[in-house]
Amino acid sequence: MLKSTLIKAVEAGAAVMQRYFQGEFTISNKEGINNLVTEADHASEKAIFEVIKTDYPDHYILSEEAGAIVMDSDFKWIIDPIDGTVNFAHGLPLCCVSVAIEQNGEMILGAVYNPFIKEFFFAQRGYGATLNDKKITVSEETSVAKSCLVTGFPYTYLDLPNSPLDVFSRLIRGGVPVRRLGSAAMDLCWVAAGRFDGFYEHKLQAWDSAAGFLIVEEAGGRVSDFAGDRYSPYQPHIIATNGKIHDELVEVVNGRHKHFVK
Ligand code: IPD
Ligand code: CA
Ligand code: CA
Repeated sequence: MLKSTLIKAVEAGAAVMQRYFQGEFTISNKEGINNLVTEADHASEKAIFEVIKTDYPDHYILSEEAGAIVMDSDFKWIIDPIDGTVNFAHGLPLCCVSVAIEQNGEMILGAVYNPFIKEFFFAQRGYGATLNDKKITVSEETSVAKSCLVTGFPYTYLDLPNSPLDVFSRLIRGGVPVRRLGSAAMDLCWVAAGRFDGFYEHKLQAWDSAAGFLIVEEAGGRVSDFAGDRYSPYQPHIIATNGKIHDELVEVVNGRHKHFVK
């Protein structure tokens, strides 16, 4: 039942995205000049809420635009109604709906759906991860030097040692291809599908990563913070890989790798 509500909710949000895509919608700014929110983000969120509240009116909800709807429940729905809003606003079909369910602090279900390229990623803890109902696994690459990576940059730049451009520069100068899709949920799912060997980012929110985190783990990958400790979506740093390059990528991100230096 939880699973079918999750799928219905994600599909409802995606249908809203499709309705607005490349049409007319209002756009406003959040903190940072290009941190956008569109009419479609709010409409997608509303459609997702309607599905959840019909089946589970007592569950806790944490959603990007509405914030927290606090309930005394073991279950928490973590929702990004459009991940990749800047892409969406520019008519780029690299955006998706991301919804996860946490039970007593553990992520148990996650779904990420990009309706424009018709890719539905799903994972249930302990049951593996799928793309359009077919099992997916992470890649086999064992070295960062031969990897294809993906990252993202925050809307308000962080100017600290080992900041996004420092890490990016180290990898690019070292000849490693690092892509930038603009949707953290898709970045994570594409690691899970073995398209990317690894992903790192400096400043994510729980709704960006909650579903993708579980999908990567269930596809056989590893997800951690920058110290290499098990990931929590309630802190900003993420490194998600096929597992085999993980420790090495942690060293690069922290500026301790002997080959990837400035
Ligand atoms: C953003 C995307 C992007 C990441 C940003 C997020 P939004 O989410 O996931 O890839 O770099 O940090 O805020 O704003 O499109 O939902
Ligand atoms: Ca997001
Ligand atoms: Ca969003």
